[in-house]
Amino acid sequence: MTAIDAGPTGALRVAPSILAADFGELAQAVRAIDAQTDWLHVDVMDGHFVPNVSIGPPVVQSLRRYSTRFFDCHLMMSEPARYLEAFSRAGADGCTVHVEVGGTASLISDARALGLRIGLAANPDTAFDRVAPFLGDIDLLLLMTVFPGFGGQSFMGEVMTKVTEARREVDANALALDIEVDGGIDVVTAPIAVEAGANVLVAGSAIFASPVPLDAARELHEAASAVRR
Ligand code: DX5
Ligand code: ZN
Repeated sequence: MTAIDAGPTGALRVAPSILAADFGELAQAVRAIDAQTDWLHVDVMDGHFVPNVSIGPPVVQSLRRYSTRFFDCHLMMSEPARYLEAFSRAGADGCTVHVEVGGTASLISDARALGLRIGLAANPDTAFDRVAPFLGDIDLLLLMTVFPGFGGQSFMGEVMTKVTEARREVDANALALDIEVDGGIDVVTAPIAVEAGANVLVAGSAIFASPVPLDAARELHEAASAVRR
């Protein structure tokens, strides 16, 4: 399957997280927000790396029929190496693995061999030093603004120090790297994250738990664009 282009690196993007959508009508939920979706964020939880279980490749494969957006798959898994190929076949365009699980260099090369865009994620309490050595080899750095596992948690403002640090590194070395934040992003926190240096905003509850998800996604875009440097 040919991967969908992610678009220009560094551009401001809203990535709705389907974790907060009604899984009983997922296709409809994804279609309803399509006009305000830059990337579609797919949260994969294995019940081991995080204390929750969500969805896997079959759902990605089904959704692929309903969306032509870039599928940004966030693998909250202890053993992502075992599943990269399945996600790629199912229609994932990018896969993000957590630095905490180790084996990062080999995961990066596996993902590249499959033609995937590769992201590296760090939990709120993981130091920037852990991801810094890989910045030149990845396409996206995901700095979690909540502890992964559940939607609807509160944004952790203290992570912004790390976002600023990452943005400084990226700009100083002219790296082609997106900086994504995930967790508790809404119209109030999105501008804070963008000010700090993030350019991809994942939002679940702020979009899907709102009465009109399409409007909520648009408002998020607008709030973030207003502070975009
Ligand atoms: C958390 C997931 C997030 C989550 C965000 O483990 O990685 O993508 O869906 O949800 P909200 O926006 O509700 O915090
Ligand atoms: Zn996520």
